[in-house]
Amino acid sequence: MVIKDHVFIVTGASSGIGLSTAIALSDRGAKVALLARSSEALQTLAQQLPGSLPVTVDMTQFDRVREAVRAVHRHYGRVDGLVNNAGRSYAAAVEEIDPALFDEIFHLNVLGPIVAMQAVIPLMRAQGGGSIVNINSGTAFMTVPQYSVYSSSKRALLGFSLTARAELEKDRIVVSEIYPFITATNFGKNRMGSPAGGGPSSHYADGDKPEFVAGLVLQAIEEGQAQYFANDRLRKMAGA
Ligand SMILES: NC(=O)c1ccc[n+]([C@@H]2O[C@H](COP(=O)([O-])OP(=O)(O)OC[C@H]3O[C@@H](n4cnc5c(N)ncnc54)[C@H](OP(=O)(O)O)[C@@H]3O)[C@@H](O)[C@H]2O)c1
Repeated sequence: MVIKDHVFIVTGASSGIGLSTAIALSDRGAKVALLARSSEALQTLAQQLPGSLPVTVDMTQFDRVREAVRAVHRHYGRVDGLVNNAGRSYAAAVEEIDPALFDEIFHLNVLGPIVAMQAVIPLMRAQGGGSIVNINSGTAFMTVPQYSVYSSSKRALLGFSLTARAELEKDRIVVSEIYPFITATNFGKNRMGSPAGGGPSSHYADGDKPEFVAGLVLQAIEEGQAQYFANDRLRKMAGA
């Protein structure tokens, strides 16, 4: 899909990969709806991105997600792309998983993206097509102690994304996924679970730059392949 002059929704646009993606899309001439909970960060970003629209929303509140998509559609009159990026991690041994936090992670990392897709699909179908890019994780292919909830949520997202891709092909709605590896964002700091406060996040500073992942998102929008990997190691692990 052509990026210029098209309307994209980016969830989790207040930080990290979503922030970089919103900037990259705007730099390429897109109109970008910026979704996240942090109103102030969104307002600041919106002032830098011409024609953008800040929309404060918690992606785990599904009625609010649907209302946010309706608000974007009312504002621009169309929705061409959705980048499902908002997400968090949770560290806990299987023995210690808190069902409430499990629920929160699956609401944010799996159901939020599904509800957002459900909200944009009829709009895109009526327009004759669209692009949906879901931000997955290399951990979907790994067994990492303490990260079973997070990696399972991303494995679930993988399944829903590939199935949606097959279901929506006839409507010219292209569903792609991005698999980042460790990326230098606030992701480690925002992690839930033990140790309290998110624990060590120093290795994130040495990771890929969020701008690199944003580049993969733009590539996915333009080319429409099913999966994009941050490195060949992940590609091999995925068997792709
Ligand atoms: N960084 C990595 O190493 C890495 C690796 C693989 C995959 N990923 C994936 O990349 C995506 C983006 O993460 P990031 O690295 O950019 O982390 P980040 O800097 O922590 O950004 C996360 C974004 O998600 C938003 N968010 C969190 N909870 C939300 C909620 N309930 N409702 C709405 N928005 C919410 C945050 O905004 P607010 O707090 O303002 O709501 C923020 O904009 C995630 O899906 C993550 O799983 C990251």
